[in-house]
Amino acid sequence: MQGLIIIIFMLSFASFYSCNARLLNAVSNTTIFNVMQYGAVGDGLTDDSQAFLKAWNAACGISGNIGTLEVPNGKTFLLNPLSFNGPCKSSEVNFKLEGNIVAPSSTEAWTGNVDKTKWIEVKNVTGLVMNGGGQIDGRGSIWWNICKSIIYLIFQALSFNGCNNLKLSKINHINSPKGHISINNCKQIRIRDLTITAPGDSPNTDGIDIGESNDIVIQNCTIATGDDCIAMIKGTSNININGITCGPGHGISVGSLGKNGDYATVENVYVNNCSFYGTTNGVRIKTWPEANGYIRNVTFNQIRFYNSKNPIIITQNYKDLQTEAVQGTGLEINGVTYTDMSGTSANSVAINLGCNSSKGCNNIIMDTVNITSTSPNNKVTAACTNVEGQETNVSPKVPCLREKSPTTLIGSHILGH
Ligand SMILES: *[C@@H]1O[C@H](CO)[C@@H](O)[C@H](O)[C@H]1NC(C)=O
Ligand SMILES: *[C@@H]1O[C@H](CO)[C@@H](O)[C@H](O)[C@H]1NC(C)=O
Ligand SMILES: *[C@@H]1O[C@H](CO)[C@@H](O)[C@H](O)[C@H]1NC(C)=O
Ligand SMILES: *[C@@H]1O[C@H](CO)[C@@H](O)[C@H](O)[C@H]1NC(C)=O
Ligand SMILES: *[C@@H]1O[C@H](CO)[C@@H](O)[C@H](O)[C@H]1NC(C)=O
Ligand SMILES: *[C@@H]1O[C@H](CO)[C@@H](O)[C@H](O)[C@H]1NC(C)=O
Ligand SMILES: *[C@@H]1O[C@H](CO)[C@@H](O)[C@H](O)[C@H]1NC(C)=O
Repeated sequence: MQGLIIIIFMLSFASFYSCNARLLNAVSNTTIFNVMQYGAVGDGLTDDSQAFLKAWNAACGISGNIGTLEVPNGKTFLLNPLSFNGPCKSSEVNFKLEGNIVAPSSTEAWTGNVDKTKWIEVKNVTGLVMNGGGQIDGRGSIWWNICKSIIYLIFQALSFNGCNNLKLSKINHINSPKGHISINNCKQIRIRDLTITAPGDSPNTDGIDIGESNDIVIQNCTIATGDDCIAMIKGTSNININGITCGPGHGISVGSLGKNGDYATVENVYVNNCSFYGTTNGVRIKTWPEANGYIRNVTFNQIRFYNSKNPIIITQNYKDLQTEAVQGTGLEINGVTYTDMSGTSANSVAINLGCNSSKGCNNIIMDTVNITSTSPNNKVTAACTNVEGQETNVSPKVPCLREKSPTTLIGSHILGH
């Protein structure tokens, strides 16, 4: 009797399985390249870089089908710095990360790499889909103290360069030596459901940095690190950031832009439904005095602050202590809208808009902003210099902005925008 039940079970399982397999084939005919078949060990100690590269070359090299590089669950793979290169034969390639990837555990293991700035690099791959629920551990703690002295030798954990139509989701990414994810020269990027975590005091461990890229959606990510949750740097446009939980960290930044007189532009940015927990900034715009270029059409909407130090901040003439003072007016900042923002500030200056006397920041719009102090008995204020624009229903009041009654604003601006 028991045997019969098992047989029936096996038969129904088999038919379910084959039916499912047929279904999968019809939708996307993928060929699996499991790293174990290419000699990976997965014990967390053996260097599995060559096995990963062989599996990648196979997956990237097949035509007709979609190649899937598979990193199996329940194993940990040690990778030295390496680069997964395209172009691939097929218009889609999958990187299924179900297991764990770890970086070398000592700094010596990194020596001998000519390009000492990146750990896992993906270059020139169109249509990469990376997901699987696995984990990437940059083991950054060995670098975080060194970082303070030789900052530029530290590794970015995962970099994408020249990767159009990238989909990145369901990965747990921890403890990068420097930034966790960097994206450059890419179009059509969809990032969602990532968890990025490093200690709040780990230096330069940005969550996601984007430069020279266009058409980007980032949604439903939790980012808790020691630096910016998301930074949009030069050459970025058409970015939609939605449903991000940020903190600890330095907040969501446009910039910094224009160091050493660089020409930099950022435009058409929409940051929506984000929360900031204990961050040193909330939503920030930061440009260097010697910068050229512009920031235009940036909107922050539906933002919540929980004990953030500088919830809303613009610094058009950013200077740091290590750099010699350079003269300049900063780049053009035109059209920044803040709507539906609330929460608490750890600093007494909750809104701080610092713009240059000759260039200024123009068309700065605030509507329905209410930030109070974290300490119930303290009051918060707003500071601004050389800012032009208007406010409606904003607390604390921003002295530079013209006050508009809600009805006037709805007629003239919000509906027309
Ligand atoms: C799926 O891949 C197999 C093996 O490469 C091939 O024979 C078959 O024609 C492909 N089917 C489709 C629908 O592309
Ligand atoms: C991408 O490929 C093109 C041509 O195939 C090449 O010129 C370019 O240098 C590559 N970019 C990267 C980042 O490898
Ligand atoms: C958001 O991402 C988390 C993983 O970080 C996932 O568990 C959850 O299902 C996602 N939510 C939605 C609505 O996609
Ligand atoms: C806002 O983002 C959070 C976190 O991703 C999500 O759970 C929630 O559904 C979003 N709310 C709206 C209105 O989109
Ligand atoms: C401003 O940016 C938004 C995205 O946030 C975009 O939809 C809109 O078209 C842009 N407006 C202009 C005038 O480019
Ligand atoms: C604005 O630019 C001028 C000219 O370079 C500079 O002298 C001034 O310090 C800047 N203003 C601010 C507020 O940084
Ligand atoms: C601003 O928020 C505080 C704290 O939540 C609340 O007590 C106050 O009524 C709000 N003010 C306005 C104008 O909404």
